[in-house]
Amino acid sequence: MAILDILRLPDPRLKQVSSTVERFDAALRDFVADLEETRLDGPAAVGIAAPQVGRFQRIVIVDVSGRPKTPNHGYLVLINPEILHWEGFAMGREGCLSVPDYTGNVMRATQIRLRAQDLEGQTHEYDMEGYEARAVQHEIDHLDGLLFVDRVVSRRTDLYRRKVYAPRGGQGR
Ligand code: NI
Repeated sequence: MAILDILRLPDPRLKQVSSTVERFDAALRDFVADLEETRLDGPAAVGIAAPQVGRFQRIVIVDVSGRPKTPNHGYLVLINPEILHWEGFAMGREGCLSVPDYTGNVMRATQIRLRAQDLEGQTHEYDMEGYEARAVQHEIDHLDGLLFVDRVVSRRTDLYRRKVYAPRGGQGR
């Protein structure tokens, strides 16, 4: 197990599109264990995607079970995830390990139907809503080279500098 280095904006590798996972082997399981350890390091994130640690394969982990009163499926390793159906939309605040200094308001579908493989390559389908659906959409964006800052309507009004990281006299925009 190891904590992996996280790529941060403006690293151009974050724009890379990740490739499909084809081998469901011990190396994949070892990588996912490291990815999970990395997700839990520091203030635990609700999700992480493989390209955030420089591995450009379609692998994400999502776990919103620590958030109260949020319908969820617990800890999920989602390999080659694909959204089959979207419904509704809502604005919500998002953060990202690759964008440590900002949060932002992003429009996302409120309900999704998701298909993904597990670590053994078995295919599952999930109906998700609310914060879990939002987290999955955020992580899948990473697989397509997109960050939440690419989705805000206005970088001037919809991005917020995290106070805890704000340098003295720094200005959010
Ligand atoms: Ni992210």
